[in-house]
Amino acid sequence: MPEKQQPLAIFQSLRKDAFDALEEAPDFASICRVEADYLGKNGRLTHILKSLKEMPEQERKIMGSAANVLKKELEEKIKLKKAEMRKQPFVQHANNFVDITIPGKKISRGHLHPITRVLREVAEIFESMGFEIVEGPEVETEYYNFDALNIPKNHPARDMWDTLWLKPLENRMLLRAHTSPMEIRYMEKNNPPLRIIAPGRCFRYEATDATHEFQFYQVEGLMVGEKINFSHLKGVLEVFLKRLFKNQEIEIRFIPAYYPFVEPGIQVDFRMNKKGKWLEIAGAGMTHPQVFKNVKLNPKSWQGFAFGIGLDRIAMLKYKIDDIRLFHSGDLRFIKQF
Ligand code: DAH
Repeated sequence: MPEKQQPLAIFQSLRKDAFDALEEAPDFASICRVEADYLGKNGRLTHILKSLKEMPEQERKIMGSAANVLKKELEEKIKLKKAEMRKQPFVQHANNFVDITIPGKKISRGHLHPITRVLREVAEIFESMGFEIVEGPEVETEYYNFDALNIPKNHPARDMWDTLWLKPLENRMLLRAHTSPMEIRYMEKNNPPLRIIAPGRCFRYEATDATHEFQFYQVEGLMVGEKINFSHLKGVLEVFLKRLFKNQEIEIRFIPAYYPFVEPGIQVDFRMNKKGKWLEIAGAGMTHPQVFKNVKLNPKSWQGFAFGIGLDRIAMLKYKIDDIRLFHSGDLRFIKQF
């Protein structure tokens, strides 16, 4: 019956087109597209199925069963192709396909180093007391690191700072051994009254152990005015420590100590409460008249106090870290805890 042969040929070409397209489908999205083209709402096969009801009964029977056979066959083939595609590594069909069901990649957020955190906290406390924050070079001259601070060449006091000198040695350049040079640098350019802190990294030619590093952080403090005295120093440090450790019970004590740029010089200790252990936290004192002279200020008109706080020490106490070397170790197991 030639008139029936011809309509059935439609299925043959439909089938060939659909199967070819499926064979060539490079990715998951293409398979879905073939599926829509033939079986979707406006798909080619769907179209034929929809038109069945307008056909004479005889034709409808033949066309209907052929259409349904093809439909089933196509559905199975599509299912198979999809399953195959899923098994392939993602990259092969990733071009156009985004699987929105895959859980998102967790973006790991960085965070501040514990030293940076403590430094920011320290800065904030001093800022609230009217101190300006200044910074200076890590590579220093002998003049700022020593001479101007009343630590002359060949004076035994220089031995207090195991210094890293830079080559060529005749240039007399060094890695600053403390942040005190910033007192000089600042006073050369700014007139009192003044209140500054100068945080920064310092370096010492030193063997390392749990409490010593060849690089560490200090916060220098300097307050100069006409009538600045020891009680101001005590008050400022007490307020600072109480705020930093969020502890009103903190006590501090002064012990005589020698630093060439202050007179008198002291070591500052503090304890968390009456029963606590005394812990050394800073060197301090009243600015030496020679230091004022070195920056062309009249020591009869001005007086001031200075202090140098060990920042690593504070971070260690605050976060209960028992080895200073961890700070620069780059060990993520350590860093990630903060
Ligand atoms: N610069 C001293 C050091 O590194 C610490 C220090 C002591 C700083 C007394 C001061 C001070 O400002 O007054 O050992």
